[in-house]
Amino acid sequence: MKPSIYITRKLPDVCVAELKEKFDVKMWESEEIAVPQDVLLSEVKKVDALLTVVSDPVTEELLSVASNLKVVANMAVGYDNIDVEAATKRGIYVCNTPDVLTETTADLTFALLLATARRVVEAAEFTKEGKWQSWSPFLLAGHDVHHKTIGICGMGKIGEAVARRAKGFGMEILYHNRTRKPEAEKEIGAKYSSFESLISQSDFVVAMAPLTNETRHMFNAEVFRKMKSTAIFINTSRGAVADEGALYEALEQKEIAGAGLDVFEVEPIASDHPLLQLKNVTALPHIGSASIDTRMAMIHICVENIQRILTGESPKTLVNKSMLETK
Ligand code: GLV
Repeated sequence: MKPSIYITRKLPDVCVAELKEKFDVKMWESEEIAVPQDVLLSEVKKVDALLTVVSDPVTEELLSVASNLKVVANMAVGYDNIDVEAATKRGIYVCNTPDVLTETTADLTFALLLATARRVVEAAEFTKEGKWQSWSPFLLAGHDVHHKTIGICGMGKIGEAVARRAKGFGMEILYHNRTRKPEAEKEIGAKYSSFESLISQSDFVVAMAPLTNETRHMFNAEVFRKMKSTAIFINTSRGAVADEGALYEALEQKEIAGAGLDVFEVEPIASDHPLLQLKNVTALPHIGSASIDTRMAMIHICVENIQRILTGESPKTLVNKSMLETK
């Protein structure tokens, strides 16, 4: 019997053709609607490999019924949707898709920063809605980006790529990270800063840290209160690094000037969510890495990792590296 694979979202045929030659492949047939957890629970019982997306919770409960499962290939660099510890305990490889999405996600982060600062979405809607009556001095006037201070919280590869873009805009670059990045300091001129000083000095506070127990709600009411009243908060990492209730209050009370959000605590965010009612919030549907080329590259890495593991080779991009030591 051929090893079997379950893919939790419809992917282009060309991407799965190679897998179909060697393995039994079953795929959830919708591109937009997530596979229900009960369907996933039943499918996972039989398969050797799972190809998942960020919205699939790969829980201990799910893994505990997956008696043949050898690999979960997650189409994302982040893997907070997966209980990695439970997978490792069961000898299941967890793979992600780093590197290929770095520049694309940095592009979107900077696009969101510019759009929020210069009110681009609001201005485009205003024009299309026929509200434009005449040129006026402060019509949709926003905040400058050039030569302002950006504070990047979480200086991984994407953080560094954002910093390179900020350098091109003549910005002063502060960063906060668990470890210092001497190369980024030398090459980009980024300055290491404590979290406290970064949040109080930055005009743009950019959340780039992965979601972990330590980073959950790291942007809370107290933190927003310490930001400049002209500060703009940008989040393209995970919604839960910010306390959305506190963010709403900070925006509503004008403790900060705006927010550009690509990610939310609950996704998809409901259209009647309080944050979406605010004019100074620019909201996107988690599209950080969504260029066609990058999404194809991410699928390709997942496919390659699955093929390698099911044919006895080591994976290309492994999250639970301790798996290699125990083999
Ligand atoms: C997307 O959010 C990712 O982690 O790649």
